[in-house]
Amino acid sequence: MAAAVAGGVGPVVAEAAAPGAGAETKAEVGAGAETKAEVGAETKAEVGAEAELEAEVVPPPLPGLQLVQQGAEACVFRGRFLGREAVAKLRVPKRYRHPALEERLSRRRTAQEARALLRCRRAGIPAPAVYFVDHVTNCIYLEDIAGAVAVQDHIESVQRRGGDAGSLLPLSKKLGALLARLHDEDLIHGDLTTANVLLRPPVEKLDLVLIDFGLSFVSGLAEDKGVDLYVLEKAFLSVHAGVETVFETLLKTYAATSKKSGPVIKKLDEVRLRGRKRSMVG
Ligand SMILES: Nc1ncnc2c1ncn2[C@@H]1O[C@H](COP(=O)(O)OP(=O)(O)OP(=O)(O)O)[C@@H](O)[C@H]1O
Ligand SMILES: [Mg+2]
Repeated sequence: MAAAVAGGVGPVVAEAAAPGAGAETKAEVGAGAETKAEVGAETKAEVGAEAELEAEVVPPPLPGLQLVQQGAEACVFRGRFLGREAVAKLRVPKRYRHPALEERLSRRRTAQEARALLRCRRAGIPAPAVYFVDHVTNCIYLEDIAGAVAVQDHIESVQRRGGDAGSLLPLSKKLGALLARLHDEDLIHGDLTTANVLLRPPVEKLDLVLIDFGLSFVSGLAEDKGVDLYVLEKAFLSVHAGVETVFETLLKTYAATSKKSGPVIKKLDEVRLRGRKRSMVG
């Protein structure tokens, strides 16, 4: 039936271990990365358009269960798991996908999410603890970052209150430094957006937590890191108008913090150029 993560220690709890302890090999983790063809077959827009074709979801057996969010990829529930405040992230099967492909993608994303979260916690990168991974239902049980606000919502609320880019600079520096640490661990997030970074309460402490690692993989390549930053840049500029300098500051801090930022920023420039050429050609 279900299997526990963290080396089969039992169902609970995959807590942070000493940095570097039991690191996974690149081959092990990298082998889980999705092929471009698979990923390309379902961009977020396509997934949104096909939302009505999602199969019915059977909620996980959590006491006091509440649906937190029905996202494009997963349903997130809040409840208690063996006495702890927990969220359960359940992959939503898509009816339009062949069942075999569906099963493979869901299984892989659940495994990738669990592995990446464990890798983060080992490296001291803030991310929810993994409590349990159910490979039968492709449901992952995580520490509930209770009362957290997504960075996206925080930026919007600062802007609504009349705050300018200047008031967001401490946040962008923190995020830039956090992403530098993530990439220095050769961890590629795969879906970086301001919605996938949470702020623990109280938000003024700027206590960031990275989530949503279902598309993550391990790579030391500057190209992969550059693309990760490019995805964030596109998402950031499309969602947060008028605070472009916030992203510039983030990049500057990333460049100053990461040990290997030179080639990454060079790749980011190349990827931007490719993006511009593509949009000119149409
Ligand atoms: N560990 C957690 N603690 C608290 N809230 C969480 C946690 N994990 C996820 N959430 C909440 O659930 C939402 C969706 O989670 P997540 O981004 O992991 O799933 P998703 O289905 O991939 O979402 P989307 O498709 O919208 O990106 C988050 O924006 C956040 O509000
Ligand atoms: Mg998300």
